[in-house]
Amino acid sequence: MKVFRDPVHDIINFDKVQENYILDLIDSKEMQRLRRIRQLGLSSYTYPGAEHSRFAHSLGTAFLMKRVIERLQRVRGKQEKQWLQEIFDNQDLVLCSALLHDIGHGPFSHAIEDVMGVKHEVWTMQIINNPDTEVHELLETYKPGFAKEVADVIARVHPCEMVVKLLSSQLDVDRFDYLLRDSLMTGVGYGKFDLEWMINTLTIGQVDGVPEIGLNLDKGLSIAEDFVVARYYMYKHVYFHKTTRSAEIITRKILNRAKELIISKEMECPPYLDVLFLSKPEDKEKFLPSYLELDDNILWHWFHQWVNSNDKLLSNLCDKLLNRKLLKSRDISGINVVNLISHLKVLEKPPYGDFIAVDNPSTSSYKDPYISKRTRSETDDIEKDKEQREATEQIFLFDTSKKHFELARKSPIIFAIRDQTIEQQRLYYPVELQETVDTLLK
Ligand code: NI
Repeated sequence: MKVFRDPVHDIINFDKVQENYILDLIDSKEMQRLRRIRQLGLSSYTYPGAEHSRFAHSLGTAFLMKRVIERLQRVRGKQEKQWLQEIFDNQDLVLCSALLHDIGHGPFSHAIEDVMGVKHEVWTMQIINNPDTEVHELLETYKPGFAKEVADVIARVHPCEMVVKLLSSQLDVDRFDYLLRDSLMTGVGYGKFDLEWMINTLTIGQVDGVPEIGLNLDKGLSIAEDFVVARYYMYKHVYFHKTTRSAEIITRKILNRAKELIISKEMECPPYLDVLFLSKPEDKEKFLPSYLELDDNILWHWFHQWVNSNDKLLSNLCDKLLNRKLLKSRDISGINVVNLISHLKVLEKPPYGDFIAVDNPSTSSYKDPYISKRTRSETDDIEKDKEQREATEQIFLFDTSKKHFELARKSPIIFAIRDQTIEQQRLYYPVELQETVDTLLK
């Protein structure tokens, strides 16, 4: 047994013989890179403990997947066993997909996605499918054609639907792990739920003729509620926190300014950052080697260098980020943003105008747009995509006679918050504009 100690799962273990392929993947260059990328980007500006890596989350997700499969192996009933057979026959595929599901993340993921115009999911596919990566080579050595299968599961286009749903649905192990880990590492009280009980109440049933993983109705209703509410609070208080978003806005502004200077040849493009500033979305294959060199440390190094840039704006933005001189924020829900911004810009001469931003993050608490974004891929066919989205956006509960109930129909709490958008609209501005903003918003 290879053992990892982990703050969420205590002991994570993989068998050195039977799960050798997982251990080899963990040692690959592309997986090790995730040690140098923080799971929560700039959240440690708000919650100093939140320094955990995407590597730890990936390990946790693979381990949870293994535990869920072990639990499902104890499900009784001939029919049930038949439904689950697809998962048991593809255990290696399921575990590899869980381990590699976030392999395409880069540093400050959301900010760099905007600058490059390429989503991390696209890089995930590249890394798994490109013959030059260690991950690809390991998967193909294990079984020819296996890399494509893993990529298909992650892209949700693999024909084994049970396998796909196990990795991405309302009840997936990715969410189990990130909610618990982010909650623990930030130190907030939200986000926790009874994982052991959740795993224990997992079961399988049928919904409109299609097998679905769900929870036992009697035992699982409260934990399902707890889980959805945990996610609701994590978005509200952690992922959308105003201070974190402020640091993210500055990072985005830094990258956009650097891009302008590099494109206009006023600044030289640093090594590896060509993928951020000079690549086009269609060049992703050519720029993959650069992308794989990027991590948090490299970007911090350049932010540090750019404090001394001749460009005042770039230097000022980098100084703000490094020294945590963040932008102030103000809730502007229901206010006409276009008017507000033009007022601010007219009133104040540059440079302050360059530091103003409006931020409007949103997600829904139960019907989840995150999933619908993730289902889209270049090869996907729209109808199938739509169906899968419908099926996985719900949590099902099964009673003893295997009748199914959708969570919101059994739970008044979930009914009340379903389809409700978790949304914040905020104005960000430099502290120098405090008085102006106060006057404007009076
Ligand atoms: Ni994940």
